[in-house]
Amino acid sequence: MTTNDYAEPAAELTSGRMPLLGFGTWQIRNSAAPEVTAQALEAGYRHIDTATAYHNESGIGKALASSTLAREAVFVTTKLPPDRAGQERRTLEESLSKLGVDYVDLWLVHWPPNGKAAPRVWEQLVKARQDGLAKAVGVSNYSLRQIDELTEVTGSTPEVNQIRWGPSIYDPAVVSGLQQRGVLLEGYSPFKVSNLSDPTLASIASQHDAATAQVIVAWHLAHGFVVIPKSSRRERIVANAAGARIQLSAEEVAAIDGLSRVARVGSSRRSG
Ligand SMILES: NC(=O)c1ccc[n+]([C@@H]2O[C@H](COP(=O)([O-])OP(=O)(O)OC[C@H]3O[C@@H](n4cnc5c(N)ncnc54)[C@H](OP(=O)(O)O)[C@@H]3O)[C@@H](O)[C@H]2O)c1
Repeated sequence: MTTNDYAEPAAELTSGRMPLLGFGTWQIRNSAAPEVTAQALEAGYRHIDTATAYHNESGIGKALASSTLAREAVFVTTKLPPDRAGQERRTLEESLSKLGVDYVDLWLVHWPPNGKAAPRVWEQLVKARQDGLAKAVGVSNYSLRQIDELTEVTGSTPEVNQIRWGPSIYDPAVVSGLQQRGVLLEGYSPFKVSNLSDPTLASIASQHDAATAQVIVAWHLAHGFVVIPKSSRRERIVANAAGARIQLSAEEVAAIDGLSRVARVGSSRRSG
């Protein structure tokens, strides 16, 4: 089946489906956000990633308001800055008002407050989900140990952990650790952590008549990871999304996994 949007492929959250391809918006200015976000929606992205700290929620809200898409057709994520601990509800209400929505699809703790798991903060996210202001809640930049602390103290496990991710830092232990806990892995900075001129990526890209950036997007989807590439340039916005249509073979995925410095350190330790 062919569709002209990227609502699929998606991961299953308790609240519904989360498109594996999202549009990253860090460093997109609020003044540019209406146009750039509109271009992303036009290109078929159905998932937008923002944060209070990006200061572009009202610009994104303008794009959502002027789009003909129904609210439920676009998955919207925002994040609580760790320094807003203690003002969680007010911060979420500000985000909702700027975005012009009644709820977000996903609300994340942006970073562990003061480097700690902060279960009291987490309880407020869970409460926002109970109250219907966030359909799903999760964390970002949390370790497995910090996630376990949240589960142990509150009885609620984050649905998503958004972490820096890409082939060069692919870590099977993180993948299985999150999987065992039922936490969806959402990767950020897919290009910034990558060498877009890497010969392995370039050779696979040429097999698909594609760019290496598109292969990186395809690799995330092949694994079932969420990926949220950012661009402010229309042609890249379109091209990055098209990466979601590339079907990599199991051999190609394995070759890209092999680019990981983390995996290589692990395997040389094991063999040594
Ligand atoms: N939770 C967190 O702590 C956290 C941290 C960082 C990021 N994030 C989220 O993740 C999103 C993505 O991460 P990111 O913005 O850090 O980095 P990224 O998406 O890996 O890379 C963005 C950079 O790559 C360039 N680029 C985009 N497409 C390209 C292409 N096809 N070829 C070559 N260069 C390309 C962009 O430039 P142009 O714009 O000029 O195209 C920009 O400089 C963010 O926007 C944000 O939503 C979350």
